[in-house]
Amino acid sequence: MKNNFYITTPIYYPSAKPHMGHAYSSIVADFFARFKRISDYKVFFLTGTDEHGQKIQRAAAEVNKDTQQFCDEISSNFMALSKILNLSNDDFIRTTEKRHKISVEYLWNILEKKNEIYLSKYSGWYSVSDEAFYSENEIVTKDDIKICKSSGSKVEWVEEESYFFKLSKWENKLLEYYKENPDFINPQSRKNEVISFVKSGLKDLSVSRKSITWGINVPSQKDHIIYVWLDALTNYLSALDYPNTESDKYKSFWPASVHIIGKDILRFHAVYWPAFLLAADLPLPKTVYGHGWILSNEEKMSKSKGNILDPIEIINKYGLDPLRYYLLKEVSFGNDGNISEEKLENCINSDLANNYGNLCQRVVSFNEKNCHLKIPENIKYNNEDIEILDKFKNNYNKLEDAINKQDINFYMNFLINMLFASNKYFNDQAPWNKKNDNIRLNTIIYVSLELIRKISVLMYPIIPDTSLKALSIFDIKEKEIKFKSLLNNEYLKHGIQIKKINILFNKIIHD
Ligand code: MSP
Repeated sequence: MKNNFYITTPIYYPSAKPHMGHAYSSIVADFFARFKRISDYKVFFLTGTDEHGQKIQRAAAEVNKDTQQFCDEISSNFMALSKILNLSNDDFIRTTEKRHKISVEYLWNILEKKNEIYLSKYSGWYSVSDEAFYSENEIVTKDDIKICKSSGSKVEWVEEESYFFKLSKWENKLLEYYKENPDFINPQSRKNEVISFVKSGLKDLSVSRKSITWGINVPSQKDHIIYVWLDALTNYLSALDYPNTESDKYKSFWPASVHIIGKDILRFHAVYWPAFLLAADLPLPKTVYGHGWILSNEEKMSKSKGNILDPIEIINKYGLDPLRYYLLKEVSFGNDGNISEEKLENCINSDLANNYGNLCQRVVSFNEKNCHLKIPENIKYNNEDIEILDKFKNNYNKLEDAINKQDINFYMNFLINMLFASNKYFNDQAPWNKKNDNIRLNTIIYVSLELIRKISVLMYPIIPDTSLKALSIFDIKEKEIKFKSLLNNEYLKHGIQIKKINILFNKIIHD
């Protein structure tokens, strides 16, 4: 084992049905978790649900349900989604669990003891939908309704006694931290957004509410409920047994390697969260990655527009792996991306069915006819064989670095190029014309099988089920998949029997 890797998704508000944006965030995190596992890292991948606060309290009241029962029901939709998406999460945390409450109360007590929290009065704007406080210059009036300029959500005026966290005190420390740790906020374009927000002046943050009842009570003042973001962010620690900093989990995995989040919640993760941790004297996560937004027909998804994309509907129609592949390939990581069924069908037909699936079928059936499903024995590489196989070796470090910088786009481009190159290799080498040259015929088949194996290893983090099906040709099991096997140009044992597989992807044909 080389190292430990702790990756988190945002814990989801269970106030609505899971949609494509939620699925995207978790599929991306799953991609990294799986890549690190096959790279011999000890991985902890966390997801879960964020169940406290006014938003949930209101959502439950609207349907006349007991709030806990409401959370239980809706949290289970997210738990089910994590199975449907084939996420390899190691834990699923719910903020209504006891382990989380203990952790939040402990962190609160530390902040209070360190004099980082004081009692005062809040008067200002609050968005229940974002569970966020906004200053006057972040608000506009539209159709007589006050809304937040950036999120577009409705705000309401709040005036009440509240505890405050001394956020202003951490302004310079945060700016220094961003400077000294250039990878703390990724992609780099988002960093500027955060820096200018911090530079514009941080005000102390209201961290308790008296007007709500659904949440964790301030330990010393039970009529106050801890601000839901201070509560929710702490989930990343609760899942590691915090406050037991001697536990194996905490020692192995804190600080987190990457928090994967959507760009809308960058402020909470890149400003408030590090400030809470600095104040509590806890180490800071290494990277917060703010990905882009999934759009539906070029527009933000919303109930009122009726354009919410349901991942389950798409999966029922096309299957899970096509969706995973599509989201990782077509949404340029870091930017917004649009979902359209037409593009998804193109991906299935060209990349998955034509390029990947077809390569596997052609090579295996050619082997069956000419080598009786055995991995050829007598081979002799020429320059072209070595050149194509070496592409994996030569890009090995680059691929690893790309993942360490969360550059999914580099990884996908490399893989797609190799798919094209491998199909071209098989066509150009035309083994069907080499029936009189046994060694050449054997070599082309061997190289083509190696290419399928290498490509399938790289496909594993993207489309794990299909990759496993393809690797079953060589009887390679999940635990045996290793990224470092890309360095080996003769991994497949000569003379061993291979297996035929069913077609990996069916083409979508419209009448
Ligand atoms: N509960 C908070 C997160 C707390 S983390 C300590 C929250 N929940 S959420 O359910 O609203 O969003 C969960 C994640 O889904 C966020 O990363 C958010 O950015 C992401 N997405 C929600 N809609 C999205 C799209 N349309 N597109 C891409 N991701 C989006 O925020």
